[in-house]
Amino acid sequence: MTGSPAKPPTQNPALPDFWEQRYRDGVTPWDAGGVPRALQDFVAEWCATRSDAARVLLPGCGNAWEARHLCEMGWQVLALDFSAAAVAGAVPVMGRWRDRLLLADFFTFAAAAPFDLIYERAFLCALPRRLWPDYAARCAELLCPGGLLAGFFYFGCEPKGPPFMIEPAALDALLEPHFKRIDDRPVHDSLPLFRGKERWQVWRRHD
Ligand SMILES: C[S@@+](CC[C@H](N)C(=O)[O-])C[C@H]1O[C@@H](n2cnc3c(N)ncnc32)[C@H](O)[C@@H]1O
Repeated sequence: MTGSPAKPPTQNPALPDFWEQRYRDGVTPWDAGGVPRALQDFVAEWCATRSDAARVLLPGCGNAWEARHLCEMGWQVLALDFSAAAVAGAVPVMGRWRDRLLLADFFTFAAAAPFDLIYERAFLCALPRRLWPDYAARCAELLCPGGLLAGFFYFGCEPKGPPFMIEPAALDALLEPHFKRIDDRPVHDSLPLFRGKERWQVWRRHD
């Protein structure tokens, strides 16, 4: 036999078991417990430019605090996560919008129609780096032409994760084949886990 033994599922962040265990144990240092300021500002600005209800996807939604906010704005929301414990935790948060939750894998679920917006928070950095090209291609596939990928990106060069950091040039190389960056701002209300290392960015899908 050669090579190292396969990691158990609870130590492999590509699998639901990894996240399942952390939600069940209450070890969720990424959970904002509310709606980050930058998303609130973006929603307010973007709403002013739209007359219809945007179709929004929240991949790896966790407790879905932001999904509830977007439902309250009247948007057509789909919040998905492949951890049953995460979705169970999101049910009381979503309340009367709980039917917008889906237990599914981002990479394989069947979307009924293209989305106008994908909201990114602590999802890309939760994925092993080998899945990042698939993430970029999948986001582009799920969005309509001109659709937006907006959210928080976690920068740095530490190799270990999750959360897995990305260097600014690497994010550009990952997304630029599909998207053009149209906004980039510092974040002022980060959790300790992300403080000083995350930025709010908006990327527009090529037509
Ligand atoms: C670090 S947590 C972030 C949760 C949430 N976005 C937040 O900000 O609180 C990453 C989430 O992505 C989910 N996840 C990871 N890979 C996934 C996949 N392929 N499909 C769906 N969900 C996935 C995990 O179950 C976990 O809930």
